[in-house]
Amino acid sequence: MLQDVPAQIEMAKTEVLPKVCPVAIGEGHLDFKAMDFFSESPVKDCDVYFVTEKYLHNWTDEECKTILTSLVNAMSSNSHLLINDYIIQHVNRDRNTSESALGLRLAPEPLFPHYGAGRMTRYSTDLDMTFTYNSQECTLEHFIELGQGVGLNEGAPTLGPSEGYANNMIRAYV
Ligand SMILES: C[S@@+](CC[C@H](N)C(=O)[O-])C[C@H]1O[C@@H](n2cnc3c(N)ncnc32)[C@H](O)[C@@H]1O
Repeated sequence: MLQDVPAQIEMAKTEVLPKVCPVAIGEGHLDFKAMDFFSESPVKDCDVYFVTEKYLHNWTDEECKTILTSLVNAMSSNSHLLINDYIIQHVNRDRNTSESALGLRLAPEPLFPHYGAGRMTRYSTDLDMTFTYNSQECTLEHFIELGQGVGLNEGAPTLGPSEGYANNMIRAYV
């Protein structure tokens, strides 16, 4: 089931996906349902809810909580939520970071804890989101705080090693 605003759903159904995955569309493996996540919940009781990349990063914390609440209201106790978005990683060891608390492997000293990976795209996107939408790319603590604020528990995130669109994934459940 693919859900988005009506115009996007129409375009996905009639133009984009018939070209990209004609067999899946032809055999009816995909369903579509328009939705405004500020006023409706997605389809209820799915096994997995996948929040596709960059869905949350251009909304303020309060707006993200509204979107996440609409997901929580749709989820059953068996549902999993996957959020595919950048995770801004710490470049210092000054405090007990959520990376350490969750047992994620940090680089040994004297390397930076995230191995000194450049990851310029996510930091410049963070600035873009701040200037354009008064929002931001989130650290792991920030995602956890947002999720806990709406009754989600987080699973271990997968911190991807690469730059650009190889995003990071957060898993959560109610
Ligand atoms: C920044 S895009 C996500 C980027 C997309 N995953 C990609 O890779 O191009 C944000 C998505 O949120 C959808 N969206 C915006 N407002 C929405 C709303 N009120 N309800 C549901 N979807 C919404 C947009 O239509 C768009 O598909």
